[in-house]
Amino acid sequence: MTSPTGSFVVVANRLPVDRGDDNAWRTSPGGLVTALEPVLRQHEGVWIGWPGGHLQGYGPFEVQGLSVLPIHISDEEVAYYYDGMSNGTLWPLYHDLVAKPSFRREWWDAYVRVNRKFASAAAESAEQNGVAWIQDYQLQLVPAMLRELRPDLRIGFFLHIPFPPMELFLQLPWRDEILKGLLGADIVGFQRPNGASNFARLVRHRLGHKTHRDRIFVGEREVAARSYPISIDFKQLETLARSVEVQTRAKEIRAELGNPRHVLLGVDRLDYTKGIRQRLRAFGELIVDGRVDLEDVAFVQVASPSRERVGQYQEVRDDIERWVGRINGDLGRIGHPPIHYLHSSYPREEMAALYRAADIMVVTPLADGMNLVAKEFVTCRYDNTGALLLSEFAGAADELKQAFLVNPHDINGLKDSMWRSMQTSPRELSRRMRGMRKQVRDHDIDAWAEAFLRDLAGAELAVDTDARADADANADADEL
Ligand code: G6P
Repeated sequence: MTSPTGSFVVVANRLPVDRGDDNAWRTSPGGLVTALEPVLRQHEGVWIGWPGGHLQGYGPFEVQGLSVLPIHISDEEVAYYYDGMSNGTLWPLYHDLVAKPSFRREWWDAYVRVNRKFASAAAESAEQNGVAWIQDYQLQLVPAMLRELRPDLRIGFFLHIPFPPMELFLQLPWRDEILKGLLGADIVGFQRPNGASNFARLVRHRLGHKTHRDRIFVGEREVAARSYPISIDFKQLETLARSVEVQTRAKEIRAELGNPRHVLLGVDRLDYTKGIRQRLRAFGELIVDGRVDLEDVAFVQVASPSRERVGQYQEVRDDIERWVGRINGDLGRIGHPPIHYLHSSYPREEMAALYRAADIMVVTPLADGMNLVAKEFVTCRYDNTGALLLSEFAGAADELKQAFLVNPHDINGLKDSMWRSMQTSPRELSRRMRGMRKQVRDHDIDAWAEAFLRDLAGAELAVDTDARADADANADADEL
């Protein structure tokens, strides 16, 4: 079958489709695909990605009007490019070294090879003068590779995870190659402004490019480095949360928990960046200290399985399960464990019901690009009830300022905030929740995609000579 073509091409490590029980493909309900669906349809767009796991042998296909081009990756490439370079090197390095990154040359070689596969596929799929939008840390070399093959394209890149400070990034043996890879884009998008400024600082320092505010001058080209905080489909999720089925299920969940006064909830991929241990410790200590009565509380922790072949993910699972066992063993009674731990993924309906059933959502990552769980919780609280405990180190903290902001490393601080959120009046909680809901409603996933694509469509490819003159004048002052 020939490759599908279109004037808008999304390139991401993952495909936006899942297989249902009947084995048929469906677009997955994730935010990115929802946001990009209208653009993809309008431009007969193509989504290029890896089908994951052991799903080999698929040619291009269409699902619900969306053209999908699966990229095939060998078992060794999965081990080196995905488990290795992406999740054993870049993920921990970009998340503030919460775990120790490994630097392995064979991983890097596979990363280059797989990035080239994605770039070649994009080069074949994009129509003349089309747009290609590349997603995330697994594909940082694709922008430059694609530009070389197809200089006619508008190329955007968005990094969904944090971009680290210079002092950490410099450890990477392939630091210059990554910077050059990203500079192949016309716009390099980040979740937070400090990601964009870290990047600009690095390209000045390592590659000697001049910069002026969010502009980087690369030969005859100009690249913009800006922040575009990602969001969710507010309307769709709120509608789901209001449905009778979800409301009924939420009541059922509370009843199954014994209708305690306070239901606390954590929802994460089981990842060492998420601060799950810290929040469970804080919760357990509140009971031990006698500040909170076991009868009054239940903590539900959903930890969805993730990257299970990577050693550090196996370790974090063991660690968390030990803590859950210890806390439940020490403090629980028959039929009443303090922590309900679920190592599983659930459909959106069940997640919406959990968000509705909870009183306090506990989001405590040690580092996180955005954290959409925080935004999902707020979206489901259409009656302005509930409290959000949110780590200062999540990108979402820039926007959800009315949350109870916490430093997840500070267990006493975490305990105090958890306790305070239980004591806060419904009136005060409602004031906070209204503010947060307005923020997410006004800055939903459509607004995010529109802002990025509008900038990309208008990206000045020609160099703005005034800005370049300013950059020259400021260069010395800017340097380290
Ligand atoms: C994070 C990354 C995504 C990734 C997702 C799930 O959100 O930014 O790129 O797809 O985690 O991880 P996985 O390794 O299963 O794709």
